[in-house]
Amino acid sequence: MNFTTSTLDFSIQAYQEGMNPPVTKPNPEFLKDITEQGMRDLLDRFYMGLFDSPIQNIFPQTKEEMKIAGQHSADFFIQICGGPKYFNQNRGAPKMRERHAPFRITPHARLHWLVTFEEALQPIIKNKLSSEENIQSFWNYLNVFSQWMINSKD
Ligand code: HEM
Repeated sequence: MNFTTSTLDFSIQAYQEGMNPPVTKPNPEFLKDITEQGMRDLLDRFYMGLFDSPIQNIFPQTKEEMKIAGQHSADFFIQICGGPKYFNQNRGAPKMRERHAPFRITPHARLHWLVTFEEALQPIIKNKLSSEENIQSFWNYLNVFSQWMINSKD
């Protein structure tokens, strides 16, 4: 019999109003494992998932615009994982909280955002494109930093 066990923990940290918990960047090995193209594919899956999600209303309203937005996001995630600074080159300084300020990001929206990201990560897990340790480090970054983006009560 072939038992497989996973140590991955996709639990979501409870949001505490007024707290910006300390953020640790993802392990750069995650990007090395999945490659830049793998990160672009991940963000494309994520943005297509958001397009079909209950928080679609806060994002661009056409699939074409979402494809472009996903690649801006991929530029950022490649950069935060220690890759080339594509986001700085194409969009300027990250200033993530400022960039999210025009959108109503509630604790509830953050939950949908994280669950949609977890779904987009599944092919990486299934195809063992990265180690559980590196996937966990990427998830931990999302879990913590997404709390910083909340700017509105439910
Ligand atoms: C780890 C936390 C997060 C990171 C690193 C992140 C990253 C980004 C990046 C890089 C952009 C593109 C900005 C630009 O091109 O100027 C963006 C845009 C956006 N994000 Fe986030 N984000 C995070 C959390 C969230 C959450 C929790 C929500 C809502 C639930 C959200 C909603 C949006 C929206 C509505 C936009 C504008 C549309 C777009 O360009 O995608 N983000 N985010």
